Amino acid sequence: MLGGDTGRAGRAGASILKYSETMCGIVGYVGHREAVPILLEGLARLEYRGYDSAGVAVQNGRGIVTRKLAGRIPALTELLARDPVHGRCGVAHTRWATHGAATERNAHPHTDCEGTLALVHNGIIENADLLRATLTRAGHEFATDTDTETLAHLIEDAPGASLEERVTAALGHVEGTYGLAVICAAEPHKVVVARRGSPVLLGIGDGEYFVASDASALLGRTRSVVYLADGDLAVLTPDGYRVLDRDARLQVRPVDALDGDFETLALGPYPHFMLKEICEQPETVRNTLRGRLLPAEGTARLGGLNLSPGQCARLRRIVILGCGTSWHAGLVGRHLLEELAGIPVDVEYASEYRYRRQLRLPGTLTVAISQSGETADTLEAVRAARAAGSLVIGIVNVVGSSIAREADGGIYLHAGPEIGVASTKAFTSQIVALVMLGLHLGRRRELLPLEAGRALVAELTRLPELVARTLELDPQVQALAPRYAEARNALYLGRGVNFPVALEGALKLKEISYIHAEGYPAAEMKHGPIALIDEDMPVVVIAPQDAVYTKVISNMQEVKARGGRIIAITSEGNGDLARLADHQLAVPPCSPFVSPVLTVVPLQLLAYHIAVLRGCDVDRPRNLAKSVTVE
Ligand code: G6P
Repeated sequence: MLGGDTGRAGRAGASILKYSETMCGIVGYVGHREAVPILLEGLARLEYRGYDSAGVAVQNGRGIVTRKLAGRIPALTELLARDPVHGRCGVAHTRWATHGAATERNAHPHTDCEGTLALVHNGIIENADLLRATLTRAGHEFATDTDTETLAHLIEDAPGASLEERVTAALGHVEGTYGLAVICAAEPHKVVVARRGSPVLLGIGDGEYFVASDASALLGRTRSVVYLADGDLAVLTPDGYRVLDRDARLQVRPVDALDGDFETLALGPYPHFMLKEICEQPETVRNTLRGRLLPAEGTARLGGLNLSPGQCARLRRIVILGCGTSWHAGLVGRHLLEELAGIPVDVEYASEYRYRRQLRLPGTLTVAISQSGETADTLEAVRAARAAGSLVIGIVNVVGSSIAREADGGIYLHAGPEIGVASTKAFTSQIVALVMLGLHLGRRRELLPLEAGRALVAELTRLPELVARTLELDPQVQALAPRYAEARNALYLGRGVNFPVALEGALKLKEISYIHAEGYPAAEMKHGPIALIDEDMPVVVIAPQDAVYTKVISNMQEVKARGGRIIAITSEGNGDLARLADHQLAVPPCSPFVSPVLTVVPLQLLAYHIAVLRGCDVDRPRNLAKSVTVE
């Protein structure tokens, strides 16, 4: 089992809904063998998490040598083959950019002014700006845009006779979270490791010791691991390891057996990737937002967009392209962008768009949405849009994917790898990215007043917490799932910004449980689907508190009058809908601009639990592919 931020769920008894982990990867080694192959192998095992740059630092007997690049592990392996580094002690990292762009410069490991120490870090140093200013005044020169580099300079200046004493002293100034591994020139056979809020574990070998942020990195190297507790600091040398707690007292942490294959380790305490990814959403939403909100200006900073203020002002039309779940996110995006930025939006299936005549309309911005960045139809549609003279931006999860490379700019989701075939966390992050795009364009075009922008920034800031609260509905969803597991059809209804959520809820159910399901605009039901309603037809109605709430209630009455069984997704404080609905799942009240991020969560859980009850292969549903790279 995998160690996470709350400890291993089994032992700690923590709810799996609270389990979260970091995306970047750490590997470290000290022992009697060449470090580089071991470090590279460990990094390769962490690739599934996603990353955009990678690097190693090795103590070669004369000092520390670092090799890093923006790109993939094979490229780093080639670099090290061309320009080898020998040594038996080192640290390595895969980085998913948060502070600072995904460049070689910003890749870890980071060093101090003199290059006498190197470190890798997962987590966020929250007071990095303040520390950077103080350290700069004290004469330190910063080489990167990262928060992590402040740690290297802090340790450089910190008092202490040993590396561990200096690391302890430096961490006393740090606010935020870290999983950390440090080596230094003066103590050539030592790795110092620290943990606060970001997982780190030690691997125990014979005269050699390993460090990793995720147990899967150590598979095949050792079967004995020690999960560090929060606040621990560990010192590793070829002769052994010591663990000190937050009060610098020596501790004996239990040695656990590392068993299971890669998949079991990557899953952590979850039975399926889909559930893991649903439960990760507070964290993935936070990662999509991270570093992008400007509360005072009431806007979002989207560094990769590459749209000048002039281009923003001249926009006349937006075309959103996508397939599957990404197309549904696009439909939500239409509401958001029209409301916030005042620009007319068309949403197109990429597969349809690419074969139509593309009309050249000056001032058109094309937004391609794709989790994988590799969907063939979306990629071809991007090429067609560019050929028609449109600017193209991508809203993409996989860094460096084809759509990300071919677009003029874009917004990365930073949601981490999505392994379950049915998309969940990518959808919520896509909506968050679209809200930020609407906010950015609306403020730039002076359509969205400052106060409204600030209110939306505040709403986005609390969104991860609201998603976490929504996940607390899980026991209720699980309890009602058996009532519907035998259904043959289901209808999902919603209006406005939640109509696409109805489509997405229906898609989730049919994808993984093979129950036929349709999503409809609630009012459109009376033009056809109402003929199907009887006591065997579950109807999921999305009715959060918003401008169309009373209209949706009327639609519920129409269903009720025909004996339909209703599951209502409503808002806390909406009042009791028991006279209409057989089941009510209340999400926290929120702005309509973000409500799809909450209302979709119970629908994801409902599809998941029904599919499990039906014995379906949730993560690999029949006939479906995660990334459809054929037409
Ligand atoms: C496949 C997947 C869906 C996904 C769609 C678009 O059909 O099974 O989950 O929504 O492709 O994929 P993309 O990677 O472009 O978002």
